Amino acid sequence: MMIARRTILVLAVAFLGTLVESTYHSRPLVPSNVKVFPTARAEDQAFWYAEAQNEIAQSLARTENNNVAKNVILFLGDGMSVATITAGRIYKGQQLGQSGEEYKLVWEDFPDLAMIKTYDVDRQVPDSASTATAYLCGVKSNYYTTGVDSSVKLEDCMSVTEESKLSSIAVWALEAGKRTGFVTSTRVSHATPSALYAHSASREWECDASLPLGTALRCPDTKDIARQLIEDYPGSDFNVIMGGGYSCLSGDAVETPGDPINLEYGCVRADGRNLFDQWTINQEAKGRRHAAVRTFTDLKAVNASDVDYILGVFANDHVAYEHLKRELNLDMPTLADMTEAAISVLQASDAGYFLLVEGGRIDLAHHDNLANTALDETAAFDDAIRRALSLVNTEETLVIVTSDHSHVATINGYPHRGQDITGFSGIMDDGLPLPTITYTNGPGWIGSYVVDENGNAARRNLTDDDVTSYDYVHSAGALRYSETHGGDDVALFAVGPMSHLFQRTHEQSFIAHAMAYAACIGPNLDHCAQP
Ligand SMILES: *[C@@H]1O[C@H](CO)[C@@H](O)[C@H](O)[C@H]1NC(C)=O
Ligand SMILES: *[C@@H]1O[C@H](CO)[C@@H](O)[C@H](O)[C@H]1NC(C)=O
Ligand SMILES: [Zn+2]
Repeated sequence: MMIARRTILVLAVAFLGTLVESTYHSRPLVPSNVKVFPTARAEDQAFWYAEAQNEIAQSLARTENNNVAKNVILFLGDGMSVATITAGRIYKGQQLGQSGEEYKLVWEDFPDLAMIKTYDVDRQVPDSASTATAYLCGVKSNYYTTGVDSSVKLEDCMSVTEESKLSSIAVWALEAGKRTGFVTSTRVSHATPSALYAHSASREWECDASLPLGTALRCPDTKDIARQLIEDYPGSDFNVIMGGGYSCLSGDAVETPGDPINLEYGCVRADGRNLFDQWTINQEAKGRRHAAVRTFTDLKAVNASDVDYILGVFANDHVAYEHLKRELNLDMPTLADMTEAAISVLQASDAGYFLLVEGGRIDLAHHDNLANTALDETAAFDDAIRRALSLVNTEETLVIVTSDHSHVATINGYPHRGQDITGFSGIMDDGLPLPTITYTNGPGWIGSYVVDENGNAARRNLTDDDVTSYDYVHSAGALRYSETHGGDDVALFAVGPMSHLFQRTHEQSFIAHAMAYAACIGPNLDHCAQP
């Protein structure tokens, strides 16, 4: 009896399996409104054999470049997870009409690469300020703090001591007589660049208005991050400062279409200082050749051979998303334009330079579950790196491309080859389409689910949504108004002098030391003493 029952059960399961399999195969995998880009090449046996021979030849031809790095450029794609790189590659290839998967972002041909562990001293999943502290100052620290070691507790201004303040690679470069600067698509006082020049118990203290009440009483020496940039060393000696964040520098910011003032997450100066004008006053007092600009038009009018110091602040808040610059014809430079202008000022010195270029809005788009915008920002980041590579010689310039932390966007489903990465992947077992890029959490949870006729949670039918638009908020599993970062490792790609220092899984803090070693600056001068 027992055996018979079990046999029936086994048969039933086997029958059901066949049924599931047959419905799986008969079901349309791709919703009818999804675009598929054709594959141009014939990917037969001979193709893959030849392809592999090319890769073997490339690997064998790789030589170590043991030159001293005269210049170092660190390209930091904020929140550019490995999934973002993969999807960004497909996106950019598809923009060019290709199927996409075979496309290569320019840094994917760099000879050396490593995996980077991004955890903080106090968190498994980090933020952008603590990670910037790791890869720019060479020391891991606590979540949300910037330019200080782990003795500093979040938002505790009293714990910031002179000993806790870290020197960044910007200081090491300046001390070696090199030019130094940064370019970002975020506010110039935002998390990533802040670790180059500031020391703060919170990355949010970007201007005076965001300092907690009573800070002046408890910690009279505490300065907001924007003031540290303009008033204090090393920011005061940066040759290039470019990005957004005018409202953190001055209270007289004026909103225009495409250039809002961010009251929720930004900061608007309230102490009457105009740090943008102060920068010019400071440069004049030091007798420096300088230019301060607010628009792309003004940036283009600057002849790089006439200036040694340049300040460009192109937006009240973050610099606009690249797609908005195009759609609204904003007078703002692209990340590639800013990178080119920065290099032209920095490379005038025989002593070389350090430059940080942040593609900062990949991260911000992900936080809003704007997957398509995140991919477009990744494509713009690739443009900036291509532009830089056309201007520098990698025999003497170490170029690194990496990210600070991951995000919780996945590429999922079984989309066909060449299927639009911004669209749906296929029909799930609830009979409804799923966007290829979905998030495990974020604001996209809102509107992703409905209550069905049985009172159960069900996914909403997204078929008629405009999923491919830049404004589309992709689905998320759990509600969080700002999607979280991910804790998985990020990738690092390197070319140029000593790029072979990057070859394993590394701690993120190693990056600052490796750059310094390659350039013979800061704490790693030992190998430079050798003939
Ligand atoms: C920039 O200035 C240099 C030297 O003053 C001059 O030779 C060059 O023609 C100028 N370039 C432009 C585009 O005006
Ligand atoms: C989802 O919506 C589309 C378009 O309105 C419709 O054709 C399709 O039948 C719907 N799917 C389900 C499972 O309701
Ligand atoms: Zn972030």
